[in-house]
Amino acid sequence: MEVKLAKTAGFCFGVKRAVDTVYRQIEKEQSDVEDEKKIYTYGPIIHNEEVIKDLEKKGVQVLRTEDALDGISEGTVIIRSHGVEKRIYDKMEAKGLEIVDATCPFVKKIHNIVEKESREGKHIVIIGSEDHPEVIGIKGWVNGPVTVLKTEEEACTFEVEDNASVCVVAQTTFNYNKFKELVEIIEKKSYDISVLNTICGATKERQTEAKSIAEAVDAMIVIGDKHSSNTQKLFEICRGACADTYYIQTLDDLNMNQLRSVETVGITAGASTPNNIIEEVQNNVRIIF
Ligand code: F3S
Repeated sequence: MEVKLAKTAGFCFGVKRAVDTVYRQIEKEQSDVEDEKKIYTYGPIIHNEEVIKDLEKKGVQVLRTEDALDGISEGTVIIRSHGVEKRIYDKMEAKGLEIVDATCPFVKKIHNIVEKESREGKHIVIIGSEDHPEVIGIKGWVNGPVTVLKTEEEACTFEVEDNASVCVVAQTTFNYNKFKELVEIIEKKSYDISVLNTICGATKERQTEAKSIAEAVDAMIVIGDKHSSNTQKLFEICRGACADTYYIQTLDDLNMNQLRSVETVGITAGASTPNNIIEEVQNNVRIIF
């Protein structure tokens, strides 16, 4: 009997860095008894109810909208790994708020690219979902024309003004094959085009490993928040490879009886699942074996 835990289960580098930043900031503020500032995160730091509840207990408040930001006049605001538009930094600075920037360096790199390339007169194309916070953030660093596209149809109808140069980047979590397809469509238009593959390998690696574990086990457990889109995707991939796949948020959701008759169990977790939750599930599954 065997339990296989995916090495890539749980936080990616950028999310871990952002969550650690918040906990470090809490410690820092608590040690400053003279001038303890209120801590906010601009949007939930990760899609995980357990972590958000824990942070709220420690006094961290989530600013869920720009209006909520308008309503505060002091304190420290932590920017999450998705990053934000330039104008949000400007607004925070103008209000005299302390900014702690936990934007993932891979996302920050895209901000720098689009800022520079658009200043040089290029039309920026972001391949991704228009309403995703990361894409909204990237768009907010462009100084000039910008197009967000994610379907073949949108790529086919995309056009720019004559002689314009085009710079293409991608949302970090975009599917690589889809990105390639869309780039090929745009390249056929014979614009002067530079393509920067800014997709982050963390998601792909997690999915590839999860699939290969799911193919080799009798039952598979996927741990993550029910609202986390990357966990939902992970669940679909695992279920495609192993019919006995369970989607749980915490150990409480797991029905151990379902696992008693199996010989091998695989475990993976979405990018926003904390290590302690993964450990707890793993330890309890190991006990029944
Ligand atoms: Fe950063 Fe990649 Fe995670 S871009 S936030 S390390 S998925």
